[in-house]
Amino acid sequence: MHIAFAASECVPFSKTGGLADVVGALPRALAAAGHQVSVYLPRYRQTKLTDAQIVVRSITVPFDDRYRFCSVVTGGNRSGIKFYFVDYPPFFDRDALYGTSAGDYPDNAERFALFSRALLEASKILGVPDVFHCHDWQSALVPVMLRTLYSEDPAFRDVATVFTIHNMGYQGLFPPDILPLLMLPWDLFTISKLEFFGNVNFLKGALVFSDFITTVSRKYSQEIQTTEYGFGLEGVLRDRASTVTGILNGVDNDEWSPQTDKFIVAKYSPEDLSGKAKCKQDLLATFGVTNADSKSPVIGIVSRFAAQKGFDLIAQIMDRLAREDMIIVALGTGDKEYEEMFLRMQKQFPQKIAVKIAYDNAIAHKIEAGADMFLMPSKYEPCGLNQIYSLKYGTVPIVRATGGLDDTIEPWDARSGKGTGFKFTEYSGESLLLTIKQALQAYRDQGSWQVLMRNGMNKDFSWNFSAKEYVRIYERVRQSRAVSAA
Ligand code: ADP
Ligand code: GLC
Repeated sequence: MHIAFAASECVPFSKTGGLADVVGALPRALAAAGHQVSVYLPRYRQTKLTDAQIVVRSITVPFDDRYRFCSVVTGGNRSGIKFYFVDYPPFFDRDALYGTSAGDYPDNAERFALFSRALLEASKILGVPDVFHCHDWQSALVPVMLRTLYSEDPAFRDVATVFTIHNMGYQGLFPPDILPLLMLPWDLFTISKLEFFGNVNFLKGALVFSDFITTVSRKYSQEIQTTEYGFGLEGVLRDRASTVTGILNGVDNDEWSPQTDKFIVAKYSPEDLSGKAKCKQDLLATFGVTNADSKSPVIGIVSRFAAQKGFDLIAQIMDRLAREDMIIVALGTGDKEYEEMFLRMQKQFPQKIAVKIAYDNAIAHKIEAGADMFLMPSKYEPCGLNQIYSLKYGTVPIVRATGGLDDTIEPWDARSGKGTGFKFTEYSGESLLLTIKQALQAYRDQGSWQVLMRNGMNKDFSWNFSAKEYVRIYERVRQSRAVSAA
């Protein structure tokens, strides 16, 4: 089967969050299972290509006032996957992927509409897939265009579409006049299609027009059908409930393993944990913490700083948490509000919290390896990858029981020696504090703590299982598309 991915980020070419990890790893698992895989991405300024070659010189993308002309370059064939980059410097040769601290780029609708339309056109030259697998709002117009503008194109007659929601919090909302600007028909502007409280909603378009919808954990697939987590689209998802499912993200073992990680000072494994202590020292040195007792537990944080991640809860309890024997090391960037909040906590409790406002992959790896615990008090979390990486590194997760965090972490029970971490349900500072205290208490018994560490390290979160689930869905949509096209 030929599957074409359409996404806005992918490791190692571009990344702001977990989407890039998934689009970097799932195609490899599919290719290893014998499928043909192409991945379409924008060519950003950050995208480093050593062997770029133009494969489509000019694609015409009509806008209401002008034609824009982009090209497609290949990044070569890696692990059996063909990577194609839509190249249009006026849109993609910029400082960041989606926007700056001042906000989103004002022409994001045009940027990702061009990307979506260009990849459809390019596929007619480079190979029409059996299935387009699209991710998040940036490629949501692919299924919309396929079933509207391109519905009579014989090249796409049998093509099926699968859409994966990585985050309901980002929908691609634009004013109505974006439709004529993008040459999309006005009849899309109805409540049963893209209209959403007077605006155009790209994500909603994908939820309406895709053959199948997936999201990145079982729990999140249920949560997004409720008012609390659906961000206004819960009704649309409920209408499509028979074609919505949750498939848990896997881990790219080549990138995230304490046995092979090239960013850490000492390798270690479940059989021999001794290297982890060196990683802890190195981590503390990286954060300039020189006076800490090596026995004090280190709680790590690596995150986009956004409301989703629940860090306001830490601010609520920091004065009481600071009385405990522990130290927090936090790495993140994002909303000014949260960056400033972390810096304020550091200023107030310099012995207890060390912060780096940065995006730094090497330090992210050092935290996974060097911390004793990893904190994710998310308000919502579609899957979450860092808690899974933490399990692999014997860094015990403390999480809120939502979405993928709930699906991946089993509560530790010292009596039975079962479980992999600590979790709380109520979104409150009190619950968080209580749960962190439980973890700190458990840490004091190093014998059973090592059982807990190994429980997590020995779990299998490879992509094999989830890739098979996706293949089952690709086959299902292909069959139903063949029936409806006949
Ligand atoms: P999300 O996609 O919501 O940001 P995930 O847990 O799925 O959350 O994935 C986050 C990914 O981004 C992980 O690979 C994590 O290591 C990485 N990441 C997040 N913030 C940073 C940062 N400041 N520096 C380096 N890597 C980061
Ligand atoms: C999103 C979610 C995160 C998920 C990632 C990859 O950014 O916030 O929970 O792990 O996508 O699917």
